[in-house]
Amino acid sequence: MKQYMNENFKHFLHGGDYSPEQWINTPEVWDEDMRLMKLANCNEMSVGIFSWAKLEPAEGVYDFSFLDTILDKIYAAGGRVFLATPSGARPHWMADAHPEVLRVNERGERMHFGVRHNHCYTSPYYREKVAQINGKLSERYGSHPAVIGWHISNEYGGRCYCPLCQEAFRGWLKKKYDNNIDKLNFQWWTTFWSHTYNSFDQVEAPSPIGDTFSGLELDWKRFISDQTADFLRAEAAAVRKYSDLPVTTNFMFHYTGLNYNVLAKEIDFISWDSYPEWHHPGELSDAEMAAKHALTHDAFRALKKKPFFLMESAPSHVNWHDVNKLKRPGVHRLASLQAVAHGSDSVQYFQWRKSRGSNEKFHGAVVDHLGNENTRVFREVSALGQTLKDIEEVLGTVPNPRVALIMDVENKWALDLAQGFQKNEKKYSTTCQQFYNWFWRHAIDIDVIDAHRDLGGYDLVVAPMLYMTPRETIEILEKYVREGGTLIGGYMLGMVNENDLCYLGGFPGEELKEVFGVWNEEIDTLYPTERNAIQCNKCGDEFAVADYCERIHPAEGTEVMAVYRDDFYAGEPAVVKNRYGKGTTYYLATRDIGGEESFKARLLARVCGELGIKSNLASYTEGVTAHSRIDDENGIRYLFVENYTPKDAEVDMGVEAIDVETRERVSGKFTLPAYSVRIFRQMM
Ligand code: GAL
Repeated sequence: MKQYMNENFKHFLHGGDYSPEQWINTPEVWDEDMRLMKLANCNEMSVGIFSWAKLEPAEGVYDFSFLDTILDKIYAAGGRVFLATPSGARPHWMADAHPEVLRVNERGERMHFGVRHNHCYTSPYYREKVAQINGKLSERYGSHPAVIGWHISNEYGGRCYCPLCQEAFRGWLKKKYDNNIDKLNFQWWTTFWSHTYNSFDQVEAPSPIGDTFSGLELDWKRFISDQTADFLRAEAAAVRKYSDLPVTTNFMFHYTGLNYNVLAKEIDFISWDSYPEWHHPGELSDAEMAAKHALTHDAFRALKKKPFFLMESAPSHVNWHDVNKLKRPGVHRLASLQAVAHGSDSVQYFQWRKSRGSNEKFHGAVVDHLGNENTRVFREVSALGQTLKDIEEVLGTVPNPRVALIMDVENKWALDLAQGFQKNEKKYSTTCQQFYNWFWRHAIDIDVIDAHRDLGGYDLVVAPMLYMTPRETIEILEKYVREGGTLIGGYMLGMVNENDLCYLGGFPGEELKEVFGVWNEEIDTLYPTERNAIQCNKCGDEFAVADYCERIHPAEGTEVMAVYRDDFYAGEPAVVKNRYGKGTTYYLATRDIGGEESFKARLLARVCGELGIKSNLASYTEGVTAHSRIDDENGIRYLFVENYTPKDAEVDMGVEAIDVETRERVSGKFTLPAYSVRIFRQMM
């Protein structure tokens, strides 16, 4: 069934962050903005994100006049609004009179007033002021016809170490450990180095001038997520008091300071800010950059398994990359429709109009300092807006992958904290990305999920380097395989519980040994430039491996698929296949390297073939991929075919389809121009 963010506005949103308060003394600019908004085929503005100083110029003194005018103007011009709560940046007077709103850093120093996104999430005063202003905004604009949703704050992140936060952390710990300090001491293994706590009052947040070890660090990170989610809940509650419009907050690319699974529970729809670094010679190719952002789209969509929103993207370049290069012609359309291909129901920008001064005046915008529509960027934005109108039938549909990649932020925290292996860089994200890239290259739809999700709907699950497996995760994985699922795991699997306590009795811990039919005796960590190889038992082919080589013992009845070629463990098993219950597992004891030439690529191709998991395309071309969104009610599949290379590509979809934009009937084979995307309708 199609799912809409707002039943009363069933259109792709096209627009973005708009800061009319910066032009309050030149209201003719506002009128020009309305003219340009229509010309740009935009229908949405995100307003009020950093407006607090204008809305409450002195404590308790409110002035909503600019918002009154702007919302009416936007509505009159046919636009709609995500109205923001302004907590992302607070007025100067507030920091001066109530320093508790300012964060304290990990060394205990209170920060001065400045920049943004740096308020204390615990401060009762800040929470009260936020609730007041959110309530006033909601009461005043909750039923304004322009407003279609709430943009809560902006890019939550960071942490505060003030006494209020420290006390809240202790309260959080008391709850988690049933007010029993012995339980905490056991899970944190504090007998080590005589760190035993006598009471919760002694616990302090990790600090470079205090204590730091993984149990403490992990709980502190969880507390930060919970405290931020609690702040978000309070913000949303103040808004929901007067309005039942849907609520979101914008998430960030690869941000691991928060567990977004926790925050997602507090909002009605997911939105995020995507700023790929295109055309970077010597770094990632454009296709690799696209795959990196594709993974994040898939992770954010999978949080709710419904359409998400691309809340921010750069209509041209940003100002904070090391080199702020222009997007080549076509790339704006391609990158924007990439988000739509993965399930976004919007393309929104930072920013509508360039600021005149301060930090972001050279950040790309729809409207440049030139001030009119005569720019390449404006024309590309406007053309994209037309496309979004032309493909409106896609709105509300969602991809429905049969494959999932487990990429778990708490697992990343734990791996990063683990002292051992390659101490500074375990390459967890890179490894997940490498697995993901195979599916991306082969145009197979995929969800990216955390390690707590029910796996029921998936035929294949890939779980690389899943070092931390809480009891719940072990049960999820065991049940999934027992009931017929196929699971690929491997080195470092199941070493610790959720508090970083090692499982005893051999790795992988508990039932995972039976599920995978192996136990891992020891792990050899290689120096970064060292290589070994594994040899395939059936075909004899060799594949390079690096970084980690576990010495594993397969159980009876398992199939050894490959063995090590070199070193004192030459000839020992490196890849083991096991049948467990009705399902199958594969254990890769070492990190194989290389793209299409890797063992992993061969294995994934074989497993997908056996499971009938098909590519969205009938032929493979480097840098070309395709993603689908499904309208199950009408049996329609919308296929987005994307070319991320500077060269035209020959594509074969395997079946005839209708181009949704042009209505043209296209045979399976066609030429897809450089940096372009086409959208097709196919009957399922
Ligand atoms: C985002 C932020 C925006 C703007 C943008 C610049 O992270 O939410 O306010 O600063 O970056 O790219």
